Amino acid sequence: MLMIPGPTPVPEQVLLAMGKHPMGHRSSEFSALMAEVTENLKWLHQTQNDVLILASSGTGAMEAGIINFLRQGDKVLVGNNGKFGERWGKVARAYGLDTHEITAEWGKPLNPEDFKAALEADTDKQIKAVIITHSETSTGILNDLETINAYVKAHGALIIVDAVTSLGACSVPVDEWGLDVVASGSQKGYMIPPGLAFVSVNEKAWTAYETANLPKFYLDLGLYRKDGAKNTTPFTPPVNLFLRCRPPCKC
Ligand SMILES: Cc1ncc(COP(=O)(O)O)c(C=O)c1O
Repeated sequence: MLMIPGPTPVPEQVLLAMGKHPMGHRSSEFSALMAEVTENLKWLHQTQNDVLILASSGTGAMEAGIINFLRQGDKVLVGNNGKFGERWGKVARAYGLDTHEITAEWGKPLNPEDFKAALEADTDKQIKAVIITHSETSTGILNDLETINAYVKAHGALIIVDAVTSLGACSVPVDEWGLDVVASGSQKGYMIPPGLAFVSVNEKAWTAYETANLPKFYLDLGLYRKDGAKNTTPFTPPVNLFLRCRPPCKC
């Protein structure tokens, strides 16, 4: 059994359920499966919003979470108290965003009051998004997303969240808290092998998508939304990762 900050163990029954010849991803069989998986994803995210499925690792979902909702040169506030907060900053800078970091020592949580102060000082609303890691895997710290998000809501910026190691491990009530964009990956709390990533997107984020202008193609979430409405995907997904065991399930 792996006890590393990498993939989690996958139940034997799930692995056996996946051991099938791949079905066609344009088949009615796959569409029915995708409809069921999408409903279950909404349950896990506690949301009625779109939850889109990508063939990528968690970092692909993070990148999609940035490039679909922001404009060139936008000012963003990134929380950095570990390896994955640091990665958010790298992605934001790679796309030329005006990236400002709120840091905390590794092993310590981000201080919500630092976000409050920066957001309250931004009276002309230059900050377009606050980007944070919920569970900072590199140190095991769970950041206070609920409080930070309350300050973001009072300001009006988007909140973009890495929930790669919190979804499935602790409650992430996307609708109750009004989280705009939430990225995750299959190999952590989901207990599925690596290869699928997920992004939940609410209406506020879709409004930002309309005017976003960062370059995108494979990770253009509009494509996933359009095809997802028909229970299909724009590109070939790893179909076996969608399969699950049926009752009587011994997981
Ligand atoms: C909090 C967090 N964010 C992002 C990632 C990156 O995910 P991936 O390696 O699937 O791209 C990880 C992976 O461990 C993670 O723990």
